[in-house]
Amino acid sequence: MARIVSIASGKGGVGKSMLATNLGLLMARRGLEVVIADLDVGGADVHVLMGEFNPDRTISDFLYRRVDDLAEVIRPLPFKNLSIIPGTGDTLATANMRFARKKRLIRSLKRIECDLIIIDVGAGTSFHTLDFFLAADTYITITTTEPAAILDLYRFVKLAAIRKVLSGFIGYGRISETLAHQDFSSIDQVLAAVEHTDPESRKKAEQIVRDFAPLLIMNRTTGRTRTSVQRLKLTLRQYVGCDVATLGEIPEDQAVARAIRAYMPVSEYAPASPAAGSLAKIAEKLAEITGC
Ligand SMILES: Nc1ncnc2c1ncn2[C@@H]1O[C@H](COP(=O)(O)OP(=O)(O)OP(=O)(O)O)[C@@H](O)[C@H]1O
Ligand SMILES: [Mg+2]
Repeated sequence: MARIVSIASGKGGVGKSMLATNLGLLMARRGLEVVIADLDVGGADVHVLMGEFNPDRTISDFLYRRVDDLAEVIRPLPFKNLSIIPGTGDTLATANMRFARKKRLIRSLKRIECDLIIIDVGAGTSFHTLDFFLAADTYITITTTEPAAILDLYRFVKLAAIRKVLSGFIGYGRISETLAHQDFSSIDQVLAAVEHTDPESRKKAEQIVRDFAPLLIMNRTTGRTRTSVQRLKLTLRQYVGCDVATLGEIPEDQAVARAIRAYMPVSEYAPASPAAGSLAKIAEKLAEITGC
């Protein structure tokens, strides 16, 4: 079965698709069969970043049952071992994707035969985004050093943790019924509701939060980022109860924008650039973490 890695952010435009395409390429170069799945609800554009302007099939073909299997949507890219499931943001957002349809998509994704699937889940905290993010084995979050982006990342991680706890109790009779009919804005509220329904289950809920442990990438760093990262990590530990480990930092680098204008990952376009160097280190560390 393929290992699944998801990439998300709180704020848009912070480098998710840049990261997905470069990690895809770097992991494929390690000899892994890699599929990038573009599930960005807001604006799917990964295929464009790879120079594929008019994919003949996209995820819409699967959602509207023109094909039965998501594997039929996979399109090869002009790089060895690398292919893509092109997205269609509009369709994903408006596909009135009820839970059953989303489940079908996630199930089909998990059945794809390859070594690694990298999901670009887009920005924000819609249920779709959170569920696609949580469908992975390894979670990567990315932010720039901008305070607004860090605050949005905090909100994203908090809501993802809440959703993870809630889905951990689906099927647990009375607890899931109680949880399903409430709206939560903090982990403390969820834990209290769980405890109220069944005191024994609080420990399980706390364990789910502790095990959550998403990884963090700071993008567009310029040198003064240490304190904001430390503060984000402390806040998450204190108010959400989960630890976030740094997977890496990518410096501000004009080669990234130049590569995007050339419709190529920067790791291919300018392999000696500082950004490409950082991405190579990140891929190395990810390979260690995932055992790929
Ligand atoms: N390390 C970097 N140095 C310089 N510019 C960067 C860097 N990372 C990203 N960018 C710039 O930020 C822009 C947005 O990147 P990208 O499209 O990957 O973000 P995104 O998070 O996928 O956005 P969206 O939420 O709209 O999907 C890029 O077009 C690029 O110009
Ligand atoms: Mg994007």
